[in-house]
Amino acid sequence: MKLSALPSSLDAVVADLLVVCVIPREVQAKGSKTPEKKGRPVTIGDIDRRLGGEVLPALKRGEFVGEPGASFTIGWTRDSAIKSVLFYGAGAKGKTEMDRFSSYRALGSAIARSAQCLKATRVSVSSHHLDLVNEDNLIAFLEGLYLAGYRFDTYQTDKKSEPTVIEEVVILGAKRLPDRAVDRARAMTGGTALARDLINMPPNECTPPHIVKVAREVASAGKLKIQVYDKAQLKKMGANTLLAVSHGTSEPPFLVKMTYVPAKKSSKTKVVSIVGKGITFDSGGLCIKPDTGMESMKADMSGAAAVIGIMKAIAVLKPSVEVRAYIPTTENMINGHAMRPGDIVTSMSGKTVEILNTDAEGRLILADALTMASRDGCDICIDLATLTGACVVALGLSCAGLFTDDDKLAQGILAAAEKSGERYWRMPLITEYRELLKSKYADMKNIGIRWGGSITAALFLKEFVSDCSWAHLDIAGPADTDKDVEHLRPGGVGFGVRTMVRYILAQ
Ligand code: BES
Ligand code: ZN
Ligand code: ZN
Repeated sequence: MKLSALPSSLDAVVADLLVVCVIPREVQAKGSKTPEKKGRPVTIGDIDRRLGGEVLPALKRGEFVGEPGASFTIGWTRDSAIKSVLFYGAGAKGKTEMDRFSSYRALGSAIARSAQCLKATRVSVSSHHLDLVNEDNLIAFLEGLYLAGYRFDTYQTDKKSEPTVIEEVVILGAKRLPDRAVDRARAMTGGTALARDLINMPPNECTPPHIVKVAREVASAGKLKIQVYDKAQLKKMGANTLLAVSHGTSEPPFLVKMTYVPAKKSSKTKVVSIVGKGITFDSGGLCIKPDTGMESMKADMSGAAAVIGIMKAIAVLKPSVEVRAYIPTTENMINGHAMRPGDIVTSMSGKTVEILNTDAEGRLILADALTMASRDGCDICIDLATLTGACVVALGLSCAGLFTDDDKLAQGILAAAEKSGERYWRMPLITEYRELLKSKYADMKNIGIRWGGSITAALFLKEFVSDCSWAHLDIAGPADTDKDVEHLRPGGVGFGVRTMVRYILAQ
C-alpha cells in the first residue's frame, strides 16, 4: 500500500473511493457557500456543489445525519475520475484519549471494508475534520486500514475471487505524513498479521515444530539471535514442568529464545523479556475438556504467536532496549505417557510441583520459561498467556487481565494499551491466596480452588520469577473472536502485539 500526502482540491482527485468526514451541521446545511480553495481539504459541501446539490438531500433521505462512526456511500456518476464517495461521521463516541484513537482506527477500518466491497484499489481521504499529522492518530488510522483488510483463506479452495488489495492511499490536504508513524503502523500491523495467521492455522499444521520454523524465519529476516532448545537439551536443563506437559503427545516440545540487541548497547541498556504460552492444542490432557468448543483450544498458543509477532516488529523498529523472547511450546494431549493427576515433577527452578489438574498446563510450561528468563537476568519480564477460563468469567471476551506488583509497569502497559485500543484491567495479586497452592506432598500444586482461579494461576507463575519487575497478561478472553467489526476479523486477534510494541518503544 503506497501512502502519500497531497495538498490539493477536488479537481485533482483520481480515485475509486473518496472519503470525506462530516459533522451533523454540515449534513443538515442547505448547501455550501464556502468556495473551494486550492489546498483546503475537500468537504461534503464541495461534493454537493459539484453534483448539482443532489448529495445533501440524498443523505437526508438515507437518514444519515453524520453522527460519529456512521457512514454513507454514494456512487459518483458524473465524473469518471472519482467512482464512489464514502461520507463518514467525524469525531469520537466518548471523551477519553482511547475513544479518540479508537475513532481513527474505526475510520481506517471502515475505509478498508468499504474498499473491499467496492473493489476500490485507489483511495483518497480528505483530511477535513482529521488531524493525521498527530502521530498517534495517524498510527491508529493506519492500524484500522491494515487490520480490517486482513484475510485468512489459505484453506479455502473455492475462492470466488481474489480479495481487493488497496494499492494507494492519498491523504488530501496534508503537507506530509510523519514517516516514523507510518513505519510503526506497518510494523505493528505486520506483527499482528503474523500472530493472526499462526492462531488461525489448524492445530494439525501449527504444531510446535511449525512455531519453531516461523520463529526461525522471523529471526533470520530480522537479524535476531535465536536459540532453540529441544527435548534432549530441555532434559539436561531440568525443564521438567514443560516436559511433563509434552509427555502425552508425539509432537516434540521446544523452548525458543529470540534476542534483539540494540546497536548502541551499554551496561545501562534496559532488558525487557517477553514470554508467550505456546500450547498448540489444549485437549486438557487426562482431565479432558468437554467436546463443545474444544476446537477453540488451537488458539492456546496466542501468547506465543503474539511474542513472535512482537519480535518481528521489534526487529524493524529497533528500540533502544534489549528485547528477549521466550517461547515454550508443546501440545497438551493424551497417550500412554501422558502426565497424571498426582504426578510430582521438579521444575527447572528446583521447586517441586504436584500436578492435580492436567488442564492447568499453561502455568507448567511458563514456569520453566520464567525461570530461564529470570536466570538470564532482565529488568522487566512480561508474559502473555491464554491462561484461565476464570479470567474470561471475570472480564469477558474483550478484556485481558493484568497482574503485577509494580505500579509503574502497570501504568506503562495501560498507557500503551490506551493508544492501541486494547482493553486490560488490573487484577489483584492477593498474597493470602498463595496458601491455596499448598500441596500435601510437594512444594506446591498446580491448581487452587475454583474461586479466584485467574489470581491463583498468576500467583503460581510468580513463584518462578525472580529479580525483575514482572507482569502477567491473561489474554484467554480477547485472544480470538467471533466478531467481524472495525479492525477485528473472526479468528485470531493478535492481541497484545500492538500494546507490547508500543510499551517497548516507550522504554
Ligand atoms: N487454555 C486454558 C484456558 C482458556 C480457557 C483459554 C478458555 C481460553 C479460553 C487453560 O489451559 C485451562 O484449561 N485452564 C483451566 C485451569 C483450571 C483447570 C485450574 C481453566 O481455566 O479451566
Ligand atoms: Zn488447559
Ligand atoms: Zn491451556
